[in-house]
Amino acid sequence: MPFRIGLTRDFLDPDGKVGWGDIGLAALDEADGVAWDFIDVVSGDIPPEAVRGYDALIVLTPRVTEDTLKGADRLALVARFGVGYDNVDVETCTRHGVVVTITPDGVRVPVAVSALTLLLAAAHRLREKDALVRTGRWEDKLAYMGTGLTGRALGLVGWGNIGREVSRVCAPLGLRQLAADPFADRDAAEAAGVTLVELDTLLAEADFVVVTCALTPQTRHLLNASRLATMKPSAFLVNVARGPIVDQAALTEALTARRIAGAALDVFEVEPPDPADPLLALDNVLLTPHAVAWTDELALGNGRGAIQAALDVAAGRAPAHPVNPAALDHPLFLSRKASR
Ligand SMILES: NC(=O)c1ccc[n+]([C@@H]2O[C@H](COP(=O)([O-])OP(=O)(O)OC[C@H]3O[C@@H](n4cnc5c(N)ncnc54)[C@H](O)[C@@H]3O)[C@@H](O)[C@H]2O)c1
Repeated sequence: MPFRIGLTRDFLDPDGKVGWGDIGLAALDEADGVAWDFIDVVSGDIPPEAVRGYDALIVLTPRVTEDTLKGADRLALVARFGVGYDNVDVETCTRHGVVVTITPDGVRVPVAVSALTLLLAAAHRLREKDALVRTGRWEDKLAYMGTGLTGRALGLVGWGNIGREVSRVCAPLGLRQLAADPFADRDAAEAAGVTLVELDTLLAEADFVVVTCALTPQTRHLLNASRLATMKPSAFLVNVARGPIVDQAALTEALTARRIAGAALDVFEVEPPDPADPLLALDNVLLTPHAVAWTDELALGNGRGAIQAALDVAAGRAPAHPVNPAALDHPLFLSRKASR
């Protein structure tokens, strides 16, 4: 019996083509002993009948719930395309011996380069200068001087997979690099030319504060009104991590009062934001719809990561990047592996 892999149907656009472009599906066609197709679910909870008979699921946005796993007669893997997995009930998966994997190798470079893209766009006032040309205000350009990078301080709030890559891509730019991350490796930071500091020091010294930490109960509203008030008036805030890490109302106030120079945000407390949100009316903030990192490189990287996880499980190997490694030792996972 082939190892059956189901992909959620939200990978397809209305014409039935993969909306993301090349996500590496050729590797599934080339693999021996593997059969794959799209399951008939585009959104919402995945019903149990949709997963019956499948050994692995590759999931974009539909939810894997307790109910989904009632149909998991063979299911060994839920491979999430990306690194967020709030749509997967991991605890229930672990209890059912279903491994959940993510694709950090796919997002690392695209999201880090996106952080730099937003930083450069804010520093060079790209949004305002584009508007000068389009609205016949060419001669006003002297009033829109940008901020050079050389000798300035980059402050990374979070120095994990993406934060470390931001450090690497920013290395040639002549920025002094600071990072605040209670769990980061001091020697690795030092070797990368990054000084680990307390968050308060970072906020006081950084010209560009870039948020790349995980959203946890401890980091929710980590950048609140009082912390934002300690940023330099000339500093910019970039958030490519998760919206709730920043108190968005407090940020809106700081931007409105010009207490900081500007911000660039790919993520929001509520997505999509309310069109009436006052943040959207400000000209010193650049906004992208949680998709600044969406490129062909991201699509292929995430696709390859998720597909490789499925092929590894099919071949009896442990997949890379499990978020619940305990499931690998679960009797149900082991018995399904033995029966394949
Ligand atoms: N915009 C996007 O499209 C996009 C895509 C992928 C990931 N992300 C987000 O980017 C962020 C980073 O992802 P990653 O893959 O680097 O994750 P990661 O788990 O590798 O790194 C997160 C880092 O946050 C640190 N951290 C935890 N608590 C902290 C605290 N109190 N203060 C400072 N740092 C703290 C951790 O120690 C870790 O080093 C996450 O929030 C993730 O959801 C966004």
